[in-house]
Amino acid sequence: MQIQGQFAIVTGAGSGLGEGTVRMLVGENARVLALDQDAKALERLTASLKASPDSILARVADVADASQIELIFAEAVRLFGTPRILVNCAGMLGVGRLLKGDGTPRPLAAFRRVIEVNLIGTFNLIRLFCAAVHDQSALEGGERGVVVNTASVASYEALSAQTAYAASKGGVAGMMLPLARELARYGIRAMAIAPGSFDTGMLAVVPDHTRKLLLEDVPFPPRAGRPDEFAALVKTIVENQMLNGEVIRLDGAVRMREPQAMVST
Ligand SMILES: NC(=O)c1ccc[n+]([C@@H]2O[C@H](COP(=O)([O-])OP(=O)(O)OC[C@H]3O[C@@H](n4cnc5c(N)ncnc54)[C@H](O)[C@@H]3O)[C@@H](O)[C@H]2O)c1
Repeated sequence: MQIQGQFAIVTGAGSGLGEGTVRMLVGENARVLALDQDAKALERLTASLKASPDSILARVADVADASQIELIFAEAVRLFGTPRILVNCAGMLGVGRLLKGDGTPRPLAAFRRVIEVNLIGTFNLIRLFCAAVHDQSALEGGERGVVVNTASVASYEALSAQTAYAASKGGVAGMMLPLARELARYGIRAMAIAPGSFDTGMLAVVPDHTRKLLLEDVPFPPRAGRPDEFAALVKTIVENQMLNGEVIRLDGAVRMREPQAMVST
């Protein structure tokens, strides 16, 4: 699918990988619905883009909230027409050990919230996107839409205190093949990207010594990834029709290893 002129939806648009994706899409002359729960981050983004109101619609919302997202979808479709591209980037790390030092268990609500945002929030957007696009006219090659989700290398090899995050991202990775199979009849493709460590708001909250340990393990390039490198893969996925039902690791060949310094802290 050519990006130019399409209407794209990006969640987690206010920061990091989502923000990089919005910048790429606007640069390619797409119209974008930018969703984030952080109003200030969205304001910063739209001010810095200097895009016309005809090309960007920024809305504050929680991706896990069904009725909130339904309302915004209806408004966006009215203004921008049929969406053709969905990029789910909204996510939270929600680090927390199963047991505290005194043996008390982690509150269930903390685990549930991570699943709600990263997994259910992703599904929430997919279901509304597919409802909006499945019966619309097909584009070149019979294609109607493309979904790009954000998994993580933590889908496969997460660290201590990441049980909720790993379960949520494993869930995202696991849904890609059944999504691609089910959506094939509508000409909608479903792909996911599993990033390693990327320089974003999420990595910024990781303590310096942990960040150093994580990056030491990246074979090449020995650094954190940049949001524009993530956005470049989103662009490739949208443009290459043979990419479907797969999770692509974007990680400099890292295989996450539990740093002993982290286990003991
Ligand atoms: N940065 C990394 O190293 C890395 C690695 C692997 C996967 N990821 C994944 O990439 C995605 C993007 O994260 P990032 O690294 O850009 O982090 P980030 O913190 O810079 O951006 C995440 C954005 O999502 C928004 N968000 C969080 N919860 C939301 C909700 N319920 N509703 C709407 N918006 C919400 C935040 O406000 C923020 O703007 C996430 O899904 C994350 O799990 C990141």
